[in-house]
Amino acid sequence: MEKEKKILYSGMQATNTLTLGNYLGALKNWVSLHEEYECFFGVMDLHSLTVRQDPPEFRKNAMSLYALYIAAGLDPEKNCLYFQSHVSAHAELSWILNCFTYMGELARMTQFKDKSAKHADNVNAGLFTYPVLMASDILLYQADVVPVGVDQKQHLEITRDIAERFNSIYGEVFTIPDVYLGKAGAKIMSLQDPEKKMSKSDENPNGAVMLLDDKDTIIRKFKRAVTDSDTVVRYDKENKPGVSNLMEIYSTITGKSYADIESEFSGKGYGDFKLAVGETVAEELAPIQKRYNEYLSDKEYLNNCIKNNDDKARYFSNKTLRKVKKKVGLTEEIR
Ligand code: TRP
Repeated sequence: MEKEKKILYSGMQATNTLTLGNYLGALKNWVSLHEEYECFFGVMDLHSLTVRQDPPEFRKNAMSLYALYIAAGLDPEKNCLYFQSHVSAHAELSWILNCFTYMGELARMTQFKDKSAKHADNVNAGLFTYPVLMASDILLYQADVVPVGVDQKQHLEITRDIAERFNSIYGEVFTIPDVYLGKAGAKIMSLQDPEKKMSKSDENPNGAVMLLDDKDTIIRKFKRAVTDSDTVVRYDKENKPGVSNLMEIYSTITGKSYADIESEFSGKGYGDFKLAVGETVAEELAPIQKRYNEYLSDKEYLNNCIKNNDDKARYFSNKTLRKVKKKVGLTEEIR
């Protein structure tokens, strides 16, 4: 590891197949971060257990996410891409940090409140201590920066609080992580309700484009995208949220400015515009889907990536874990 590089940590839950929003908002931006940072990206499968999973489907989704990381352009030689559950240090540090986290702090987490309302029949302890596991992910690798969306900012704040608390008792054990303030990922909204974030759990399946949707499906979803009764392609988030969202998608992929897009479609109707966005998205995703299918069918390649990267993750995380165990006074293992 090059010492001068700062460390960046992030990951996604292994539950859902990804949406275009996950891709444009996060994954696509992660691809070049290794140039500046030593990057770790986990498949956060332990976090997914806070909601009941169907085991065969869960296993498939986790592997699918791993293959998508690579297919989207994360180079497994230049980034550490690994499964959270394969590195036992996460669960171990999580236990220790549970003992440095207060019930009151966790009870204030808005995601806990939202999720416990949504899964009222299964408000388990894991859902409550979810942020402590996330803190462990980040702190194990001594991450300097963490790219997260707004919905995860509060979890990063509690991570800092836990780390500072621990350090104030035992000395400088953990690096205090900051939110990654590089180029912000695009925030893509639902195609059916542009006031809401694009999400797989959208009641209307036309609201979210999935990363693995085929071309026809993609184009159909864009054709049905909700716009407004106006006819002008113009960026105005307040009054034209649907059109603005489509412009954001188009701009993020093509690199064109909003002004360029406005003139490109001036005098043309929404029909042409929606089709152009749909085609652009389909074109962007086609090579990713192709690579995804190739990787998934090449078990040997994937297994090799997994093995090497899991080992690398274990190596770094265990350094921190050993230090923590020693600091809190656990006895040394004899090997
Ligand atoms: N909770 C994050 C999410 O749902 C996923 C996650 C788990 C994560 N551990 C992390 C993100 C550590 C960044 C860093 O999006």
